[in-house]
Amino acid sequence: MEEKIEQLLNEFPDKIKNAKTLKDCDMLFLELYGKKGHLTLLTREFRNLDKNLLQRIRPKFLSVKNLEIDLNKRKEEIREEGYRKLESEKLDLEEIASPASPDRNDGRRKGHLHPTTIFMQEIVELFKKLGFQQYDAPQIDTDYNNFEVLNIPPEHPARDLWDTLYINSKFEIRNSKLLLRTHTSNSQIHIMREFKPPIRMMVLGRCFRYENLDPRHEHTFDQFELVYIDKGLSMANLQFLSEYFLKHMFGQEIKVRLQPGYYPFTEPSAKILGECIFCKGSGCKICGGVGWLELAGAGMIHPKVLENGGVDPNIYSGIAWGVGPARMAMLKWGIEDIREFLKGDLKFLQKF
Ligand code: DAH
Repeated sequence: MEEKIEQLLNEFPDKIKNAKTLKDCDMLFLELYGKKGHLTLLTREFRNLDKNLLQRIRPKFLSVKNLEIDLNKRKEEIREEGYRKLESEKLDLEEIASPASPDRNDGRRKGHLHPTTIFMQEIVELFKKLGFQQYDAPQIDTDYNNFEVLNIPPEHPARDLWDTLYINSKFEIRNSKLLLRTHTSNSQIHIMREFKPPIRMMVLGRCFRYENLDPRHEHTFDQFELVYIDKGLSMANLQFLSEYFLKHMFGQEIKVRLQPGYYPFTEPSAKILGECIFCKGSGCKICGGVGWLELAGAGMIHPKVLENGGVDPNIYSGIAWGVGPARMAMLKWGIEDIREFLKGDLKFLQKF
């Protein structure tokens, strides 16, 4: 363990110094702090270590932890270099007025739908066939609807996962602060209050989070939520719907499985995994060597949540899931950075 820490201390300061782009920095960040990052793995080993050894390696471990500061400094430098370069560059108007598409001859470029919109329309069509209707829930909602009603009271640790932006206003609804919704799960309570079961709804829309941005995390993104409430629903229905969904989006050969997960608003909760479409399950960089990719969070709606929505959990059960269409589109089209979607870069958008 000590050697490993030494090795990180030897290697990473240089790697950070030599990072040329923000993306390089993000990759280094993931290498250290990501789910399978060196630091994450080291911290897991701590449990089994002798106390004295822990005391001894602590200072060095902290130095590795502090590499994040160097990484942020390097990012700042790269940004500044970028600004300086921009200032010295001339605007290439010819490139902006890029050639008209071949099917127009009036010199104007023909636009098309945004890639996530294309992807989301496909999803909507797919679930319409099963009788699901589209529902629109507010993007600005109360703390109550976004968190509390979903079993996430103010001090609940799960709030860290879904930190968001609060509206700085004296205006509250029923003593609940307003915020930018962190997930489309806020729709669950609106749907249950508005309709009586059986319910088959799907919600697509913008969500917001106070995120540390990297190639897999963006502060503004879309989600797709499914809310299905009826008598006698079970995890078997969830498995069926997951297979239906992923097989249509990624091809009939994809293998789909449910893995136990935790969400305060579902019981039991599951993660929907699809076999990695890049390595076909043998393990690669994109799936972190495990052969499976996590594509959605899901579960049986918690009885308390049903009750909060005025649905009797002794009669009805519910299935809900939440998916990030951009993440799925990234997989399908091999896009490496989620931030591409909202950058407004025509060179990226025109590829679709
Ligand atoms: N709202 C969750 C998130 O944004 C995703 C999710 C998980 C939605 C489980 C669900 C669910 O409806 O049942 O991370």
